[in-house]
Amino acid sequence: MGSLKKVFLSGTCVAVLAASAAAQGKPPIFNESAAHKQERMQWWADARFGMFIHWGLYSLAARHEWVKHNEHMTNEEYQKYFELYNPDYFDPRKWAAEARAAGMRYAVLTTKHHDGFCLFDSKYTDYKATNTPARRDLVREYVDAFRAQGLKIGFYYSLLDWHHPDYTMDDVHPLVQTDTSQANYDRLNKGRDMAKYRQYLRDQITELLTNYGKIDVLWLDWTWNKGDKRGKHAEDWDAVELIKMVRKLQPGIIINNRLGLDDYPDGGDFVTPEQVSTKTLEKYKGKTWETCQTFSGSWGYYRDETSWKTHRQLLDLLITSVANGGNLILNVGPTARGEFDYRATGALDSLSYWMHANSKSIYDCTYAPGSFTQPEGTKLTYNPAAKRLYVHLYQFMAGGTLTLPGYAGKIKYAQLLNDESEILYTTEGSDVVLKMPKARPPYEIPVIELMLK
Ligand code: GLC
Repeated sequence: MGSLKKVFLSGTCVAVLAASAAAQGKPPIFNESAAHKQERMQWWADARFGMFIHWGLYSLAARHEWVKHNEHMTNEEYQKYFELYNPDYFDPRKWAAEARAAGMRYAVLTTKHHDGFCLFDSKYTDYKATNTPARRDLVREYVDAFRAQGLKIGFYYSLLDWHHPDYTMDDVHPLVQTDTSQANYDRLNKGRDMAKYRQYLRDQITELLTNYGKIDVLWLDWTWNKGDKRGKHAEDWDAVELIKMVRKLQPGIIINNRLGLDDYPDGGDFVTPEQVSTKTLEKYKGKTWETCQTFSGSWGYYRDETSWKTHRQLLDLLITSVANGGNLILNVGPTARGEFDYRATGALDSLSYWMHANSKSIYDCTYAPGSFTQPEGTKLTYNPAAKRLYVHLYQFMAGGTLTLPGYAGKIKYAQLLNDESEILYTTEGSDVVLKMPKARPPYEIPVIELMLK
């Protein structure tokens, strides 16, 4: 438990989760052709950029969405948040407007996190927003607002549940505390019945996938650890039957890879490297993937956290994701009052500013063909349909030149992306030499658009 916990407190569980969706022998669960899958995933691959939203009772504690685990709280101790949950500024239309302005094209909201609290009006529990002072189905309002802004709708749903009376102990359950003896597990598991919890999962996921119209993404979280008897395994969720049910209810849906079905070629649609550094993203090239990242360290609102990423770091995450053929889902943890705090709003505003001018290098783009070398100090993305290559300038040589090695004969026009102003160039041997503008355009990472022959 010690090491697992440590991994979590540092905000990464990459080793466990990003393992891979590579088939290891099991036959496919579904009978879907590669062409059909590609068609089903197309909007998602084109979108490239989404908003994750972690919001729930832990937003009141404001010290990590795992606070119940971290501080080993009982249901009774955690109850104060339930009684106080009253987000007076909750207006998801504002969230949706901010997401859209920042260039995000889909969103994923925590309908239930590990603490078991449901933001939606479920028939199967009293532990839900409608019974708090909020008195409403917050998921419904989110769906309506985001859909109205033209954003695709995603639901995060925690497989773990630290509130449900039938959910059994494992090495991250808040009640386990420090005594990890079998006797303690047996004592705590007395009267708990995972079969009943499995039914609860099915019932709630059915509600989510039938009561809110078309759902575009389902983000189930999480399954660990093969061979570790104190983790939770695919069998604990009856994962194969669960994923079949999901696809039956919503045939077009896109599902992440955290059900523990890595042995199947189709046990999930995309892999989910969490909080990884941009240096490691190259290894996902060729897979279908989405990296999930926070503005700071925690997913839920964390008042005292100071490790906020800079605008440049956020841009680098977005550009590097696309440059390696993946998506970025960037998380906001709204406050208990239902607002994005000033740091999140500031970060989103800066992204809006950049995306307004440069989003063509993101949407519909992927990694550059192997025949294009990445010039020093740049990162490349490529739009195959438009045949345009985007050179992201991490350094800017105002009034100088930029050499594109081996590009001679491959391009027909060059311009700055933000204002479509022409960039003149010469050909020297096999290279193209761009004449850079005298002044740096007002963007942290300016972009040059090359039209290819
Ligand atoms: C992890 C954490 C969780 C967070 C999620 C987002 O699995 O348990 O708190 O919601 O990742 O990727």
